[in-house]
Amino acid sequence: MSDNVFPVPAEVASRALADNAKYLEMYRKSVDDPAGFWGEHGKRIDWIKPFSKVKNTSYDPHNVSIKWFEDGTLNVSANCIDRHLETRGDQPAIIWEGDDPADHKVITYKDLHREVCTFANVLLAHGVKKGDRVTIYLPMIPEAAYAMLACARIGAVHSIVFGGFSPDSLAQRIADCKSTCLITADEGLRGGRTVPLKLNADRAAEKAPVDTMIVVKRTGGAVAMTGGRDVWYHEEAAKVSAENTPAEMSAEDPLFILYTSGSTGSPKGVLHTSGGYLVYASMTHQYVFDYHEGDIYWCTADVGWVTGHSYIVYGPLANGATTLMFEGIPTYPNAGRFWDVVDKHKVNIFYTAPTAIRSLMGAGDEHVTRTSRESLRLLGSVGEPINPEAWMWYYNVVGDKRCPIVDTWWQTETGGILITPLPGATPLKPGSATRPFFGVQPAVVDAEGNILDGATEGNLVILDSWPGQMRTVYGDHDRFVQTYFSTYKGMYFTGDGCRRDADGYYWITGRVDDVINVSGHRMGTAEVESALVAHPKVSEAAVVGYPHDIKGQGIYAYVTLMAGEEPSEALRKELVAHVRKEIGPIASPDLIQFAPGLPKTRSGKIMRRILRKIAEDSFENLGDTSTLADPAVVDDLIENRQNRA
Ligand code: PRX
Repeated sequence: MSDNVFPVPAEVASRALADNAKYLEMYRKSVDDPAGFWGEHGKRIDWIKPFSKVKNTSYDPHNVSIKWFEDGTLNVSANCIDRHLETRGDQPAIIWEGDDPADHKVITYKDLHREVCTFANVLLAHGVKKGDRVTIYLPMIPEAAYAMLACARIGAVHSIVFGGFSPDSLAQRIADCKSTCLITADEGLRGGRTVPLKLNADRAAEKAPVDTMIVVKRTGGAVAMTGGRDVWYHEEAAKVSAENTPAEMSAEDPLFILYTSGSTGSPKGVLHTSGGYLVYASMTHQYVFDYHEGDIYWCTADVGWVTGHSYIVYGPLANGATTLMFEGIPTYPNAGRFWDVVDKHKVNIFYTAPTAIRSLMGAGDEHVTRTSRESLRLLGSVGEPINPEAWMWYYNVVGDKRCPIVDTWWQTETGGILITPLPGATPLKPGSATRPFFGVQPAVVDAEGNILDGATEGNLVILDSWPGQMRTVYGDHDRFVQTYFSTYKGMYFTGDGCRRDADGYYWITGRVDDVINVSGHRMGTAEVESALVAHPKVSEAAVVGYPHDIKGQGIYAYVTLMAGEEPSEALRKELVAHVRKEIGPIASPDLIQFAPGLPKTRSGKIMRRILRKIAEDSFENLGDTSTLADPAVVDDLIENRQNRA
């Protein structure tokens, strides 16, 4: 790994919210006196009834309980909209850039207020009440943000499902949280191609019925509407008022559920609540991106992922920022699209994922260098480790060696960024997420849970709670405790491995569980395996990740066929199509190896360590294979491996 150090440029430090001394002082206070620190910073948002209690949290596995600001009341939507109306009603809240470069729209805070109130009234008119779950399956159009904020306004709990998920995945998520209302669009539009969202929603609703389906018209493509259930959003909006009084919510009332993959079982409904989440999302947005009044801020994520929740919608809007929302993809109409949009809207802060950087890096520098990018001041990275080569390209070519890069480590569960540089405070090392944010106490542990000191390597845990932490797995608190607090007693286990260097910088090395990270999308290998074995010709499957130049990790599937079935190219394609249909295109296996047998111990446990090595094409050192029931299967696996250098 690279240990190049990039000092904080003087002009960045001079305008920044925090230099190194201030970071150290604030960090110290935040861990020495969390209640004092967060009691002060909790006031950054508007409370209807101020809180008197700050922190009430326990990581004791017998009683995991996380509450912040618990006796305060607020409304998240009012914090993101109403409180800005007087001072910045005419300022753009959202700049929406369509898939087609000719398409864009500026939504001011006043516009946002009108749109969100209207959407809230449509939900109320259709019987959605405080506490009800609303599933949102929308493309990256402003209505996605309106729908989220409308739910927050009336106290309904949104659950967004990424538009790339299949009908089955959508149905599973609707059923798990018992949503009665689904918000979708006729079609999505990405890279000039349509995505049949309403059709998918109809198929999902066959398995997981909803009372109401609200359909936003995006493309005007023909769709079937089911009488008594489906309504067009624009028709309903025309019937209601554009004024709505926000509901008074308690700090610990749920704000949203977001499903994410784990190492076992079906995706977990990660539950975030209102007060602590908003304090944490807004504070991290301000400090990590060194956000100043008037900045144009762009996060390229989709609202279907947590990054879109915290850093397209809630964090920036709570801060009264202008947030850019992009419908399209980085390579349409060409690989210079991001930089054209930066120039078009004079973007100052740009936040994207390593996989996008790597794919654009491969498309050639001329797509970047033909643009000006002079508005850019800060770059960010999220979702997976950024390799030093990609970091250097991002820094040199995109940022013209002027812009610090904040490599932000966090998770759906954490609600906001936990480990990150602060632009004015932290010298950068390419590939390192550097140091903890205020209030975050990371530690590195060995397999037994012993805390390791100094420069070391092991598993990453967090020792105490921060306000943005998830509160539970929806409907399954035991699973929450089991997954995060039982591996290492009294600590939050992240599932990530990491190294800490002599400067105290953290280097995330990737997941240490059976979760893989494909193009920044988190995937449970067990989910892909269960999709594969659902195919009638498959008897057994084992899925592992392998290093992939663009995606970070690719999906490598070992498949054993039913007796009598023959491996073929056609069957390989059929299996890929099958997984796409079951989960969605993001889960498509990159490589499938037909394996007559899988390496198992005598007790029948698949030895994944061996499968990972073979998938990495580094099988010289397979370790001990003597405990295998049939060591000969390994030779066949090596012989027929699919990933050859
Ligand atoms: O493995 C880490 C990786 O992404 C995982 C969390 O995925 P998800 O919940 O989908 O959230 C992604 C966006 C916050 C983590 O456990 N990860 C995320 N950011 C980084 C990262 N790995 C290394 N460096 C990062 N900056």
